[in-house]
Order: sequence, then C-alpha cells, then structure tokens
Amino acid sequence: MVKAVVLGASGGIGQPLSLLLKASPLIDELSLYDVVNTPGVAADLSHISSPAKITGYLPADDGLKKALTGADIVVIPAGIPRKPGMTRDDLFKVNAGIVQTLVKGIAEFSPKAFVLIISNPVNSTVPIAAEVLKAAGVFDPKRLFGVTTLDVVRAETFVQEYSGQKDPSQTTIPVVGGHSGDTIVPLFSQAKPAFEIPADKYDALVNRVQFGGDEVVKAKDGAGSATLSMAYAGFRFAESVIKAVKGTKGIVEPSFVYLPGVPGGEAISKTTGVEFFSVPIELGPEGVANAVNVLENTTETEKKLLEVAVKGLKTNIEKGIDFVKNTP
Ligand code: NAI
Repeated sequence: MVKAVVLGASGGIGQPLSLLLKASPLIDELSLYDVVNTPGVAADLSHISSPAKITGYLPADDGLKKALTGADIVVIPAGIPRKPGMTRDDLFKVNAGIVQTLVKGIAEFSPKAFVLIISNPVNSTVPIAAEVLKAAGVFDPKRLFGVTTLDVVRAETFVQEYSGQKDPSQTTIPVVGGHSGDTIVPLFSQAKPAFEIPADKYDALVNRVQFGGDEVVKAKDGAGSATLSMAYAGFRFAESVIKAVKGTKGIVEPSFVYLPGVPGGEAISKTTGVEFFSVPIELGPEGVANAVNVLENTTETEKKLLEVAVKGLKTNIEKGIDFVKNTP
C-alpha cells in the first residue's frame, strides 16, 4: 500500500501533480493539503475512476497531521512562484518559512516518508529540510530529495534537434549541480545515446537549460512560473521513487541530495566541496541506493561550468542552514 501526500496541493503545480498522482495505479491513497481549496480539489479528483482513495485537508482541525499520518511519500510544491524579473533566491524570504513549517510536520507525523521538495529556491529549501529533520533526530539523507527533474526534462527536450530522437525522453542527459541559473550544469558530453552539438550552438544550449524557466515566467507575464511541465517532472520523479520502492531495479534520475549521507556520495562531495548537490541517483527500496559519480569524465568546458555552479551553491546552501539556525 502506498500513501502519497501533496503539500501545497491547490496551487499551479499542486493541482496537475495531484491529478497525475490520482490517475497513477501505483498509488492507493492520496492526501492533499494546502492553506486553501483542498476540499474542492479533492472532491473534484475523487470522481476519477482510479484506485487511489483521496482526502483533502486544510490547516484547521489538525489537517496537516491527518494528511501526513501514514505517508510513504510527501511531495512539497507549497510556496510562492516567481514573477518576471525575480530570481529563485528572491522567493527565499517567504518559502523558507513555509518549507520549515511543513517539514516540521513531516518530522512529527511521517518521519519515515520519502520527502520530495519542489518549493524554490531548491538549493536552499533542501538544506532547510535537512536541518529541520536533523534537529528532530529523524534525518535519513537517503529519503530527502530536491526535485531537479524539470532541468533534466528540459535538457532532453531542448537537444532534440541534435539528438534526432523522435521521443526526446529516450535521451539520457545527466544534469548536475543545483536548481537555479548557472548552478544548473547539463553534461551533454555524457548523453546517451551520444550526439554532437555544433560548437557554435553549445553555449546557447547550456544557457537555455539553465534559464529555461525564465521563458515560461516571461510568457506567463506575471501569472507565475512553470506549473504543468513541473507537475509532469514532479510526477515522473515521484513515480520513479515509488517504482524503486516496489522493487524495480536500475532506475536512475538526477536529484539534489545530501551527499555525505548517501551511498557513493562522500567521494563526490569531496570533489565538489559542497554537501548538497544534484547527481544521477540510482533509486532503491530505501530511497538513494547509490549516487553515481559522473563528474570524473567531464570535459574542460563542463569543468568550468561546474566551478561557477559550486560557487553559487555554497552561498545558497549556507543561506538555508543559517535560516534554520537563526529561526529554529
Ligand atoms: P502557486 O502559488 O500556484 O501554488 C502554491 C500553493 O502553495 C498555493 O496553493 C498556496 O496556497 C500553497 N501554500 C502556501 N503556503 C502554504 C503552506 N504554509 N502550507 C501549505 N500550502 C501552502 O505556486 P506554484 O506555481 O505551484 O509553485 C510552487 C513552488 O514551486 C514555487 O516555490 C515555485 O518556485 C516552485 N517551482 C519549482 C520548480 C522546480 O523545478 N523545483 C519548477 C517550478 C516551480
């Protein structure tokens, strides 16, 4: 039996993500939590003829506790999104507190659940979640994931004209580092199947993966950031975690994790000099089965991109950790 929970379920990402989870045959129970509208979203989705039993909760009457109790996997897209001109770091002030509160709830009511953080800035909200879980004595790094799948999905899509794949999802591209601007590093040299990118197109392609989110923010013109592609990506990652728990072997998806605490992570952390970093993760019944070291075979150009990424990440990670230290 698998119980999935969405925290922030009434939002732009939360609703389509909840729809995909409700439609999935892998899920037996789905709980939706938000500060608004969850009874309506849950009632609407409850008419879909799929197995998952669905409930919706608001904060009143112990809603968070009821939503989280018995959870196996919790996905968090709660928080404000970007408007034109904003960076993901601009969201920190509001979203840091939201993530902290929700993860405190997880620590209390579902400490063994897999936790998937979508709320931005992921580079800081994942360290916040780790600190909260640590303080509560329930931190298992193998179970905490920053969802960077949208960067992978974008990379797969944007290279299609060079990869020649009819179905872009059949191209595997490791995207490593963090989840914002130049902390995102696509390793095109390790794409499978391999393909050539014309030298004069390389920089623009890297830039498009790093700043692809801005295209959506601009096109939505004040109405928010990526929601539908994010729901797709968030569902893809959640589904991968659940499939691995149910015994499927060999599933690998990049994710932003606490490297020193996961198998294979220590060496990568030493190479990069940061503790939180996105690398391809082989998933297993306990969550992270192995962090795959793809940094050994990078090109000179990729090494330079990684240097820039690590610099930005250090600041973002520290900001998250400091937040919890100063507002316990
Ligand atoms: P939205 O504003 O449409 O939805 C956010 C939802 O969170 C709202 O329904 C709101 O009521 C709810 N919420 C606010 N405070 C809450 C609390 N304390 N407890 C429970 N729910 C709460 O925003 P959208 O577009 O769904 O984005 C959500 C987050 O996801 C943003 O931080 C955004 O930056 C991030 N995001 C992350 C991506 C990634 O690749 N990881 C990609 C796109 C967006």
